[in-house]
Amino acid sequence: MRRKQLATVPAGSGLKPIHGTGDPGVIEVLRFFRDPINTVARRRAQYGDITYINSFGLKFVIPLNADGCEAIAMNRQKAFANEPAWGFLIGPFFRRGIMLMDFEEHLHHRRIMQQAFGNTHLKGYLQDMQPMLAERVAHLPVGDDVRMLDEFKQITLDLALEIFLGLDLPRAEADRINKAFIDCVNAGLSIIRKNIPGTRWARGLTGRTVLEDFFHEHLRAKRATATPDLFSVLCHAQDEEGHTFTDEDVVNHMIFVLMAAHDTSTITLTTMAYYMARYPQWQERAREQSRNLPPEISYDTLDEFTILDRIMKESLRLNSPVPGLPRQAKEDTEICGHHIPKGTYVAAIGMVNHHNPALWADPERFDPDRFTTERAEDKVHRYAWMPFGGGVHKCIGLYFAQMEIKTIMHNLLLRYEWSVPEDYRWELDNSTLPVPKDRLPVRLRAL
Ligand code: HEM
Repeated sequence: MRRKQLATVPAGSGLKPIHGTGDPGVIEVLRFFRDPINTVARRRAQYGDITYINSFGLKFVIPLNADGCEAIAMNRQKAFANEPAWGFLIGPFFRRGIMLMDFEEHLHHRRIMQQAFGNTHLKGYLQDMQPMLAERVAHLPVGDDVRMLDEFKQITLDLALEIFLGLDLPRAEADRINKAFIDCVNAGLSIIRKNIPGTRWARGLTGRTVLEDFFHEHLRAKRATATPDLFSVLCHAQDEEGHTFTDEDVVNHMIFVLMAAHDTSTITLTTMAYYMARYPQWQERAREQSRNLPPEISYDTLDEFTILDRIMKESLRLNSPVPGLPRQAKEDTEICGHHIPKGTYVAAIGMVNHHNPALWADPERFDPDRFTTERAEDKVHRYAWMPFGGGVHKCIGLYFAQMEIKTIMHNLLLRYEWSVPEDYRWELDNSTLPVPKDRLPVRLRAL
């Protein structure tokens, strides 16, 4: 590997330089997509605890240890901003979403949005999603080739329409909105990043307009009456000083939250299904616990699903749906004593820690018991386990995600058994968010 320095370190600063290969972006990105775990391990062996890679025409500094990830996520000097980094990746489709805001403005919006994710509303969402999810799981197709990724995607989309939007849309309208939404998601992750007709990017821009029109159209009715769905809750949410969202804010936040909630939950469910198929003893342990708990999950019994909880944590460790937290340095700063010039892009990448043998015993092994209170491997460092990020932008929907995932899995375990051939190993497509290339085919059998 070639060795190049990111930038000249100011004389007398006492800071250290950052090295990378200097290889062209395409090579770097392909290398990472193909084999992220070994690429990181090789980089660590060659460059130590921090490196940079060329990606999408930009240089990204990547810490290869937990302290460096913490420095980015906690952002104690307020030197790193979200908007220019996330904006570059997904800005045209998810602009003015809360994750693309910074500092004072972000805090202001977060305080209002927090109301929609407090205990009272969460209980309401859970109550509403319970029958709907039970019904959807009950109607899964059984057979020898059920693609779990597709099934979970559909369930979580339907959930978004019902629980987030609270609208009883005719099927054709629901499909139109789903399509617009999926076009936005795919566009943000596309390699060709120009508005050329027929490309993912162009479809994403059209999708964004469709979604904006759709939410504006329904806004007045949502403002008029308070209903338990997220759309209505955001229309009426207030912080302690009585600040509320404008119409534009509600539309932008709805579009963003739909995205933030969807693929993340789908990927987690698919990863859990994969590992429970590969390790049927874990599927059986989780099923046994589900059978000993009430068929309906309530907010107060969520914590009793300890086995599902561990399986979920371990699945999130091994395959994090949001691969990284990208930021841009707004001023000259440092990470763990390394010089970061103003304008540099940086990213805290979860898998750097999640697969680090210095933090986890036998990290490639599926071993949910590493999260028991006795072993608590995740507690070895605050950022050893970071699938929900950290700092002020930490996932606001993590409890929501947990409720949704446990409800779906609980129903699945009670109704079905699923398996993959003994020698089956999934292959991930890391070019977008990490999903199995074959969409996880399983043999699904009703119990
Ligand atoms: C297992 C599922 C999920 C995972 C792994 C996940 C992961 C993340 C991560 C890593 C971030 C931080 C990104 C950054 O700092 O750059 C984040 C932020 C966010 N997530 Fe989640 N998420 C999940 C589910 C959800 C759900 C279900 C919702 C909504 C119902 C949601 C809403 C949000 C929002 C609004 C933000 C931005 C918060 C802010 O910037 O203040 N997420 N999520």
